[in-house]
Parts: sequence; structure tokens; C-alpha cells
Amino acid sequence: MSKIESILTETRVFEPSAETLASVAITQNKLDEMYTAAAKDNVGFWSDLAREKLSWSKPFTVGLDDSNAPHYKWFTDGELNVSYNCIDRHLDTKSDKLAIIFEGDQGDIERYTYKELHDHVCRFANTLTAQGITKGDRVIIYMPMIPQAVIAMQACARIGAIHSIVFGGFSAEALKDRIEDAGAKLVITTNGSRRGGKTIPLKGAVDEALSKGCDSIKKVIVYRRTDDEVMMKEGRDIDWFEAEAGMSDYHDPVMVESEHPLFLLYTSGSTGKPKGVQHSTGGYLLNAHVTNEWMFDLNDSDVFWCTADVGWITGHTYVAYGPLSVGATMLMFEGVPTYPDAGRFWQVCQDHGVTVFYTAPTAIRALMKFGGDLPNKYDLSKLRILGTVGEPINPEAWMWYYEVIGGSRCPIIDTWWQTETGAHMIAPFPITSLKPGSCTKALPGIDAAILDEDGNELGPGDGGLLIIKQPWPSMIRTIWNDDQRYKDTYFPLEGNNYYVVGDSAHKDKDGYFWILGRIDDVLNVSGHRLGTMEIESALVSHPLVAEAAIVGRPHDIKGEAVSAFVVLNVDTPEGAEREALILELRNWVAKEIGPIAKPDEIRFGTNLPKTRSGKIMRRLLKTIAKGEEVTQDTSTLEDPSILDQFKNQK
Ligand code: PRX
Repeated sequence: MSKIESILTETRVFEPSAETLASVAITQNKLDEMYTAAAKDNVGFWSDLAREKLSWSKPFTVGLDDSNAPHYKWFTDGELNVSYNCIDRHLDTKSDKLAIIFEGDQGDIERYTYKELHDHVCRFANTLTAQGITKGDRVIIYMPMIPQAVIAMQACARIGAIHSIVFGGFSAEALKDRIEDAGAKLVITTNGSRRGGKTIPLKGAVDEALSKGCDSIKKVIVYRRTDDEVMMKEGRDIDWFEAEAGMSDYHDPVMVESEHPLFLLYTSGSTGKPKGVQHSTGGYLLNAHVTNEWMFDLNDSDVFWCTADVGWITGHTYVAYGPLSVGATMLMFEGVPTYPDAGRFWQVCQDHGVTVFYTAPTAIRALMKFGGDLPNKYDLSKLRILGTVGEPINPEAWMWYYEVIGGSRCPIIDTWWQTETGAHMIAPFPITSLKPGSCTKALPGIDAAILDEDGNELGPGDGGLLIIKQPWPSMIRTIWNDDQRYKDTYFPLEGNNYYVVGDSAHKDKDGYFWILGRIDDVLNVSGHRLGTMEIESALVSHPLVAEAAIVGRPHDIKGEAVSAFVVLNVDTPEGAEREALILELRNWVAKEIGPIAKPDEIRFGTNLPKTRSGKIMRRLLKTIAKGEEVTQDTSTLEDPSILDQFKNQK
């Protein structure tokens, strides 16, 4: 493989404020010590943390068992319970501290102290047990962003049941596939959800999925979130409160082996059948715990808000488990960022005194379109740390987030990781010097590098495959029911057990990582291999451009031509004005990053095709750029009508 070229030069560096330097728990000295300890003895480093940060009912003596690589076992002979670690161990000192603040779509608010959360989780753990669920059984959770989703997750963890959350926006078909692959016994759902001022039915999809198979399901527990009627099937469906009636609010947590699966989470992947990513108990919880401390510096006065849905890994590690494991107060929000208007996020931050805020670049770019007036209406002075995840953040969006939301005082914690990695892998600490668009350095104990396809390590600035050389505690354990796919997908290189991420990236001379995009999306233009991120960032830096996606289209001479799909901040101009803007944008890219990246064609739309978690689906745009019919699976696409807008141009 020839190298992937990096063409974007971002030279700005932002140093931490004096306030940040003085207030955070991890200082430069402490960080240097951690890097030194991890470099000296990686397994020892993680083992010491596991002893210090987690409560074990049976201490472990084995740090890492790598005798069956690439299947790794961490803290193998130890035993613990995740729910005990997230709740019970805080009760002596924090029983009246808020664990969860919830704001519903309509502005309704609920608060749960650690003691109240404990009682709810115990009652629901007893309920699950009464329904015949025991250690190792699989439970599907198909719920909106309400505290009961976290209560259900914690209750599963408490009894050693393995949960698998299916995002509430997925169809009956997607739900059925996941139930059947997991062989689940029980579904927990709601009659519906509330979003953007509307109620949306949910239970109907469960009924439809179960009517088409899913024979392993014995019971369905239904929480009534809306006032809408719900069909209850006699003998199968039970109301949440009726099932809980008479249940004790005490439950003795079931201690499980460190390697016991805590959950499965299906990722759709770009092709083929969804993969059931299997995570462990001890290793997963360790990285969830420490990254909430390291990246977000959570302490007793913080209110942490991660906007991700519990249907995604971010909602597992930075909503349901990590913040509770460190004993923090976390906020959950049911609604959407644009209801009743695009100031909702900032209103929620103000009203609940949010100090640490974590969201996705897609949300930032969408809200940026509305300008600075809306955020400026709210008091955001309590914010001290801002995070981002899910996609590369364009320097333009980074700057807006930094200046307008963070008042140029909050570090932007750009966290690179994946469903499979369980927790942050490459990310700044709040004290790290920041470069807009770079997720900075690999965390202590995470051995990341850039290789060419022959396995040679590349030097500064050379783009290639991002890989992780050594195992880490929260890594994926296998793909449920498909161990061969686990090995083929993540460990494809000959002669080593390096974890291959699937992203392209380069590392600069300061050791900072820059993610260039997915390997599958790399373009080859006249022999130059280009990632998508940098051209997209150049377009987004134009004042009229809100979002952009780049794909390659076959070209007789160049190999591939650059096709750009653009969302403007303004209405799309017509006729000669449109042509003039296309010319201006093409020249803009040429000037920003060089003529090689100049788009051959530009199409406009009101949005980009995205997955329900906000990722741009470039593979669909590739088909459109080629002028072909879209025949791929579009079930994870948020708004299918977007494709027609783009198809009808050219
Ligand atoms: O391509 C990278 C991108 O999202 C992928 C992982 O997606 P998923 O498993 O859905 O998990 C999302 C939440 C962790 C990665 O392979 N990605 C995620 N975070 C970043 C990112 N790309 C660049 N910068 C990031 N901070």
C-alpha cells in the first residue's frame, strides 16, 4: 500500500488555561508518571489501576492471560459486580448525592440520589429474577433515553444477566435480527417515547418482531412512558410496575468472574450482518472508570452530561456505567437538540449547571448553523470541559465549540475510540496542549501506531492504518456467535496480533494522531491516496458551508475523481449563482489544501445521509456519485429522502 497523504495543515495550538491547570486532578507530573509506568510494565500498570479503582469481592492474581491470543483475558481469577461498583460502594459517603438528573422532552424533571437509584435497581433486579432471568441469560433493552433504561441495565448487571440494547429508532426487523442472534429470553421496552414534542410508539415494533420469530423470548416488560394505549399480550407482556409490585428494594449483587460478559452491543458495520460486540465485566469497567476520571476529571461538584443515547457504546460507557462508577452526578436528556428550538442543549446546560458536556461533531455542526446568538442567550459559565466523539471534528466546528460554547476557556476533549474498544483510546487530558482536529495522544497503557500494509511503522506525517499493538482491558472479547469474524476483522495482519482499527490516520512530529477517515473511504486521485476528513474540513471552513461529505467516483484518467456533497448554511442558490458558488467552493478547496483535492463535482442537499447515531453514510453517496441505483441496506439511514435530493442533480 502506498501511504495516505495528509494535505491539511493545521498549525494552531491551544494551551490549557491557568484555571484548568490549577483545578484538575491529573497534573502533568502525574500523567508523566502514568506514561512511564505503562511503558515499563503495561499489564502491571492496568493491574494496579484495577486494584485501586474497582472493588473486587475476590481479588485477582492474574493480570493478563494471553495464552490464547488474540483472545485476551484480564484479571481472570477475580470476581466483582458492576452494579455494586457503580452504586453500593458509594452509599456510605454519597447516599444523598444525585446520581441522575433527568430532563424529559417536555421539560419534566426527575432526580435520583445514589440511595434512590440503589432501591430502584434492586427492585428491578428482584423483578428480573422473579421472571426467571439468571446469570448469563440475554435480555434485550429497547427503550428511549429515560432513567428506567439505566435502571434496567444496572439491574441486569446486578444479577449477571447480559444485556443487549437495541436503539429505540431501529425497526422491528433490526430488533428481530438482534433478539435472535443473542438468543434473548426477555425484552424490556416502553409503550412509546417522547421526542421533539411528539409521542412515538415503540412497543408495536416489539410485537411485530416477536410475531415473526424470536421464539427464545418468554416475557416482555413494558414501562409506560406516554399516555398512549398499548397492546399487552396475555401471559407474555407485563407492566413494569405490576411486575415490580411487592419486590424488595434490597438485592444481594451476584458476583461474577471478571471475564463474564457484561453486555453485547450490535454494530451495524458498513456491510453484512450486524456484529454482536461482546464486552467483559472487570476489564470494561476499569477503562470506563478511569477514562471518566482522566478525560472528564469528574469530581463531586460536577454535573456531567453526555448526550449519547444508551443505544450506542457512548451511552454505555459515559452514561450508564462510567460516571456512576466514579460516583459522579450525570444528566440524561430524552429530547432532541432542536426542540422547542436549537437552544435546547444550552438551556439544559444552564438550568442544571452542567460542568462537563460531551457530544458529537454532527450535533455541533448542526447547531453551529444557527450561529452564536442562541447559545449566547444562556449562561454557560459553569462549563469547564467539553468533549466530542463519533467522527473527526473539523477544525472549523472545533473552533466554534471552543469559542462560542466554551468561552475560550474549556479544553475540547476530542476522544477517539470505537464500540469495540469499550472506552477512550486516543484523547487529550484536560491539561494537554490542543490542536483543532487532532485527538492528540494515545492514553497511558494504549499502544497505538500507524503502519503501512506490510506492517512497517510509518514516520511523522505519513498516513496509514491505525493499529493497537498490545491488548487493553476494555477491548472487545469476541463477536457473539461468530468468533472467526472477530479474528478476521480485527487481527488480519500476518505474524502479529495487532488490533486493526479500520481507520486511516497519521501521527505528527509531536506524536499527535489525526484521524483521516475510514480505510474503506480512502480516495485514490491520480495516484495520491487521500482520506475524506481533510477535504471535508476544507469545505466546512468556507463561511457558507455547514457540512460536507467527500467520496471517490471512478475516473478514466485520474483513477478517482473527488465528489462533494454539501449542506449550506443558506438556501441553495439557483442558476448562474449556483454555478458561481460551485466554482468558488472548488477554488476554495484548491487554495486551502491544494489542487489535487479540488472537487470535480459538487451537489447540494438539506442534510447528508447519516446513520441514526449521526455518522455520514459515505457508501451510499459513493453509489450516487457513480450514477447507480442504491440497492444497499439503508435500514440504519435516518432520513432516506435525502438520497433523492442528491440523486436528482447531475
Ligand atoms: O472512524 C472512527 C470514528 O468512529 C468509529 C467508531 O464508531 P462506533 O463504533 O460507532 O463508536 C462511536 C463512539 C465511540 C471510529 O473507528 N470516530 C469515533 N470517534 C472519533 C472518530 N473519528 C475521529 N475522531 C474521533 N474522536
